[in-house]
Amino acid sequence: MAKEPDLTDLRQSIDTIDDSLVKLFEERMSLAKTVAEYKKKNDLTVLDSSREQEVIDRATALVSEELRGETALFMRALMSLSREYQRTLLSEGEAPEERDTMKKIAVINGLNLNLLGEREPDKYGNETLEALNTRIAAAAANLGMNCVFYQSNVEGELVTIIQEAKDFDGIILNAGAYTHYSVAIRDAVAGVKAPTVEVHLSNVAAREEFRHTSVVAPVCKGIVAGFGGDSYIIALSAFIS
Ligand code: DQA
Repeated sequence: MAKEPDLTDLRQSIDTIDDSLVKLFEERMSLAKTVAEYKKKNDLTVLDSSREQEVIDRATALVSEELRGETALFMRALMSLSREYQRTLLSEGEAPEERDTMKKIAVINGLNLNLLGEREPDKYGNETLEALNTRIAAAAANLGMNCVFYQSNVEGELVTIIQEAKDFDGIILNAGAYTHYSVAIRDAVAGVKAPTVEVHLSNVAAREEFRHTSVVAPVCKGIVAGFGGDSYIIALSAFIS
């Protein structure tokens, strides 16, 4: 009969793996430094995030559905940390101009959208915001775009987020209920040069009367509504050309 593994041994093995992780992190950061030095010397493009999504996909495939969003965020954080490190090294002294070829898109979600997956699933589906963001990031990477994700339940915070995205190549905005009455959010969208696409999971035109009005839409490039989480993915195509 197979011997039960000893808990102390198991804990020790986990400790050993954690030590290896720290070591791997050290090696990765040191390699990032070498790459940055090479790029600086040869005046090469600073950022290369083309393989990130593939690595994220491989890591998320190892865990269960519920852990996928967290895993993707962890892996993405790890890789952007390394890129950020390269960026700081490259901007020391006379660094070449940053030439990131990826388009930068802000995906901004307003109030109650943090509850996706549990909130009125008959209208908004079962997918959590994290899982949706992972899907959007994957689709964006295929289109040569890098997404940065934001969510807030506070009107003023959304205004600040929109302002901070002013130099992005595009904004995908689901302002939630604010869509229907927030002049402040409309003014923020009108005030930035980044083109904005308004999105909704549900087909707002087919719902209650008060949802038929969008005060934000007139200052947007267009609207995508009614395709669930795919509305965001469809919206990405507005920024292809
Ligand atoms: C929504 C539609 C809005 O009317 C509603 O208030 C939301 C979600 C959508 O994505 O379908 O919060 O923006």
